[in-house]
Amino acid sequence: MCGIVGGVAERNLIPIMLEGLKRLEYRGYDSAGVAIIDAEGTLVRRRSLGKIKALDATIHADDTPIAGQIGIAHTRWATHGVPSEANAHPHFSNDQVAVVHNGIIENYQQLKAQQQAMGYAFTSQTDTEVIGHCVAEHLKQQPDLLKAVQAAIQKFEGAYALGVISVTDPTRLIAARKGSPLVIGVGIGEYFIASDVSALLPVTQNVIFLEEGDVADIRRDALQIYNQQGEPVERQVRVSSLSAAAVELGEHRHYMHKEIFEQPQSVSDTLEGRVTDKTVLVSAFGNQAEALFAGITQVQIIACGTSYHAGLVAKYWFEDILQLPCQVEVASEYRYRNPVVLSNSLFVTISQSGETADTLAALQQVKGRAKQQNLSVPTLTICNAPESSMTRESDLVFLTHAGQEIGVASTKAFSTQLVSLALLLTSIGKVQGRLDAKREGKIVKGLKKLPGLIQNALTHEPTIQALANRFADKHNCLFLGRGTMYPIAMEGALKLKEISYIHAEAYPAGELKHGPLALIDETIPVVAIAPHDDLLEKLKSNLQEVNARGGQMIVFEDEKSNVSSDGTFTVVKTTSNVGRITAPITFNIVLQLLAYHVALIKGTDVDQPRNLAKSVTVE
Ligand code: G6P
Repeated sequence: MCGIVGGVAERNLIPIMLEGLKRLEYRGYDSAGVAIIDAEGTLVRRRSLGKIKALDATIHADDTPIAGQIGIAHTRWATHGVPSEANAHPHFSNDQVAVVHNGIIENYQQLKAQQQAMGYAFTSQTDTEVIGHCVAEHLKQQPDLLKAVQAAIQKFEGAYALGVISVTDPTRLIAARKGSPLVIGVGIGEYFIASDVSALLPVTQNVIFLEEGDVADIRRDALQIYNQQGEPVERQVRVSSLSAAAVELGEHRHYMHKEIFEQPQSVSDTLEGRVTDKTVLVSAFGNQAEALFAGITQVQIIACGTSYHAGLVAKYWFEDILQLPCQVEVASEYRYRNPVVLSNSLFVTISQSGETADTLAALQQVKGRAKQQNLSVPTLTICNAPESSMTRESDLVFLTHAGQEIGVASTKAFSTQLVSLALLLTSIGKVQGRLDAKREGKIVKGLKKLPGLIQNALTHEPTIQALANRFADKHNCLFLGRGTMYPIAMEGALKLKEISYIHAEAYPAGELKHGPLALIDETIPVVAIAPHDDLLEKLKSNLQEVNARGGQMIVFEDEKSNVSSDGTFTVVKTTSNVGRITAPITFNIVLQLLAYHVALIKGTDVDQPRNLAKSVTVE
């Protein structure tokens, strides 16, 4: 999604903002821009289509590149209006006010019509331009930029994180947040703003998270935050635990590759301090966890994208291992379908970023409804961003210690979400007496084997790389699985779609005969995931159905599956012995590698695939 950086300092902000934008580029990247107030007190900006390096080149193409000690900058991921220089932020109102915005102003058309009638000119198709004009209009009544922004935001419906500067009040940067994340970086005699902490790490680790409705009045040597009611408030300065080194690429060609290979470490980091030799520590979910888990009668999981797939795997586990009802739904559907919220449900959000707008809105909606109807619905977020909106809004927080994930296509976050869900399942089972100590010990033992299993799966990279050649010229691909391997097939298909742009679909193998068999011919590679589980024999029959119709079968199996091939299809042993919980996590590694190597052959932008964003903070 769009990214914001800005600041007020005694030094030139251009290099700081460019570096910050580069670090936010993974959120959205179709265009970018900066605006500063220069030494003459003039508002100047540079914008360009494409990546930050294009913006950097535009700025440095001038003999005297623009410079200034107060400025705002933005990477844009188009929502309203095509990617173009004219639609790129910052947006100006009459060379007087400059605005960067993340979010959506839902009533912008109405505001635009009013402003056009008042004589304001529009140069873009964005919803953002109305913000600048609205601030400019208020500045006509009084010259205080803070008051003008506070008055303007009363008119906006929707979500926003804003940075505003104006030549009429050239020492102040006003920032505001409602529905989209924004942090303030506290330097020594300087302040910064950004959409997330990673953008600020080169300049400071001391950050303040603005809360819903906050407006910050930022000068070089003073900061005052006001709450939604306009009252001055103190917000805690926290020291971010993220380090600048986490975003270095090292020996890898892409972040995605780096992150795939970090998974043994991420998984052991997620387990660390949460398990002993044979037990899971329920308190890892928070002090109140034991009491809250004791009273629940079902689990409702809400998430988007890859995180949704993690939830789908967990549904099989919850119902199979604990006999505890578990519903899983994508947030964008759940929040708009007037769902029945049952008392004593554990409401679990899963999110890498903790900022996905739909998931966050579903959480807020359920909390509101539970309060209104006096229902007991404890909320838990399984999240990779400690300093995110979802962690702040939930009763219980369980952090996936994946480390910062930069590749848009999620890999290590997914594996650690599954590990976290396995720990949740074990904790609930234990608290409710649905799981005995022996079974608990077995699950813990399996989880502890995971880093080794993943390491082993990663050694198959050369085989997968060779197989990838068979996909590069194809337009369609089918992924098959049964049981927990069905959501893993969905995740494998999603990865391939996201980064190689090949249409890929996942089917539960038993459903083949109800439609997709009609598609099968020699032009469609069919990937099947075949662990040695209760469904293996049934899966083998499904594979024969494909084979008989000339499909190009590629079967990934474990050391015990023994899917025999008569030479008409390919069987690859990609993992050693896996169990019910370790199998989906381990097999998924192979599918990540497959998508990566197909994308490499196709020459796509692996880390920043077209049209996609890492963190989707708008609907
Ligand atoms: C975007 C990302 C996906 C991610 C999804 C949910 O679509 O590109 O990789 O799975 O959002 O994001 P979240 O941060 O909530 O897990």
